[in-house]
Amino acid sequence: MQAYHVADSSGLIKLDAMENPYTFPTALKEQWLAELTQVELNRYPNPQASELKEIFQQVFSLSSKLELMFGNGSDELIQLLVMAVAKPNASILTVTPSFSMYKLIAEYVGVNVVEVPLQQDSFALQMDMLKKAIQEHQPAIIFLACPNNPTGTLWPKDQLEEIIKQATGLVVIDEAYSPFAAYSMMSLVERYPHALMMRTVSKMGLAGLRLGWMLGNRQWMDELNKMRLPYNINTLTQASAAFALQNITVFDQQAKQICQQREVLSNALHALEDIKVFPSEANFILFKVLSGTADSVYQNLLDNKIIIKNVSNNDLLDNCLRVTVGTEEENQTFIKVLSSAFS
Ligand SMILES: Cc1ncc(COP(=O)(O)O)c(C=O)c1O
Repeated sequence: MQAYHVADSSGLIKLDAMENPYTFPTALKEQWLAELTQVELNRYPNPQASELKEIFQQVFSLSSKLELMFGNGSDELIQLLVMAVAKPNASILTVTPSFSMYKLIAEYVGVNVVEVPLQQDSFALQMDMLKKAIQEHQPAIIFLACPNNPTGTLWPKDQLEEIIKQATGLVVIDEAYSPFAAYSMMSLVERYPHALMMRTVSKMGLAGLRLGWMLGNRQWMDELNKMRLPYNINTLTQASAAFALQNITVFDQQAKQICQQREVLSNALHALEDIKVFPSEANFILFKVLSGTADSVYQNLLDNKIIIKNVSNNDLLDNCLRVTVGTEEENQTFIKVLSSAFS
């Protein structure tokens, strides 16, 4: 096995990891720092992060019938879920291409991974193949990222519902990119007890905090909570996230700006003849290099101090690259360098 590789990005325009390019406004930063001075670092954190839970319930208008759990990033929640179902011959199911951590974690926990390919180019769900795979492998968990990373696709809700109805175990709907998507699958989680929803504060602008959250039926969440390490959410994260959520309008505004920039970036990419652009409901855009290779385009950008993600190692992503939507200035620099690579 290989450790999850994170490329060194120091000194580069960073468009590789779907981070929000904007930070807190200065006035808010000062208020936040003032709150942090009240934190008692000599004490262990609130073990259930109960105050933070209440704030989440209010801000996101979560159903009181559902229970909430936090993880040290949603990565930790994925790990917890997979460990919870790990027994001989257990399997998880996901689609390919998708977020790599589902497979990576399952592999190191010793759980089988069933991958159903998405439709070439449209990246639509292949419903017949999925149903067949569910019947054959009876997966303990189905992971579906909505919108999907790295394709940016948001699948229709009725297809998700169909999968939930066919499922023999849990269905985890990973909405890491919900701040940028046209719709959410939340109503399905309210309707089906074996459907869980996972989100994160990373993409909305707080990747450094490492805070993911999962929502679902109380009985399931009580079981999963047994796997959670005590104090998994540190005090500084709890205090900072509480402060940020009380100022959620700042992040909503930033998400709007990112969606506008996504449109501008997508149009600029469409204008380049040597590129095929895929539609995106997230804060990144997948594109295919039609003349030359993704590797050389990636290297050329890197030589010009811009880092994006080379995702061309998947059969369905031949010659594909993924760029995160940055600030207007970063996007313009990226487009300028990219266009010059083809001229
Ligand atoms: C679909 C999806 N889920 C989860 C994550 C991880 O989120 P976190 O930063 O909360 O661990 C990512 C990160 O890229 C992602 O693409």
